[in-house]
Amino acid sequence: MTMTQLAIIGGTGLTRLEGLKIIDRKPIETPFGIPSADYIIGELDAKTVIFLARHGDPHIIPPHKINYRANIWGLKELGVRQIIAVAAVGGITSKMAPAHIAVPDQIIDYSYGRKHTFFEEDLEEVTHIDFTSPYSAELREKLISAAANAQITVTPTGTYGCTQGPRLETAAEIQRMERDGCDLVGMTGMPEAALAKEQGIDYAALGVVANWAAGKTEGEITMAEIEQNLHKGMADTAKLLKAFIAR
Ligand code: HPA
Repeated sequence: MTMTQLAIIGGTGLTRLEGLKIIDRKPIETPFGIPSADYIIGELDAKTVIFLARHGDPHIIPPHKINYRANIWGLKELGVRQIIAVAAVGGITSKMAPAHIAVPDQIIDYSYGRKHTFFEEDLEEVTHIDFTSPYSAELREKLISAAANAQITVTPTGTYGCTQGPRLETAAEIQRMERDGCDLVGMTGMPEAALAKEQGIDYAALGVVANWAAGKTEGEITMAEIEQNLHKGMADTAKLLKAFIAR
């Protein structure tokens, strides 16, 4: 592995990365099982990038069934030092309108029952990683300045609340999350961020808003609405990533 040692984990709406010239595909088996998909080793603007489809390719693995440990372990094995995680989210607070992109700086984890740590078996000592700042400040800054270069407006902070899914939330759950301080709601941010930190890999996320969260608008949230907003949001995300890589 040379150069950037950068990986992009694509979520709903980003199963493939436009413009990525595919050089190789690496299936990897890990001590924790099989990752979501083969790792795509590619080139974007003559820089090496590794791409992983979080929900598989085709997109069939629901958030609570993703093997987050295998996904992160495989990236570590490939020599990855930085991960940009792209994830569809619901917008809770007023700045987080559909099709908008946010670069969250905090997380609250409401998920449960997921394999969420590498530090549980065959230990020589009990390990507690520091998780005060779950995302890499340096990587976030670079993403924010790449967005400015690409003339894409992003919200540079925000608290991401991770729910279990696959169902969307109730209006009362979203009200509680808002009281807790969440700006965004998604289903895949955890344990992914913590596992990356356990492996010492810098990790930052782009939350692409697919819909107003439950109870924030009249009526039900439809898949059609989600797809339409993601279409625009992911086009901007691809431009932002290109600007990030070109810098
Ligand atoms: N809730 C949780 N995850 C999501 C949502 C949502 O409203 N939209 C896209 N991912």
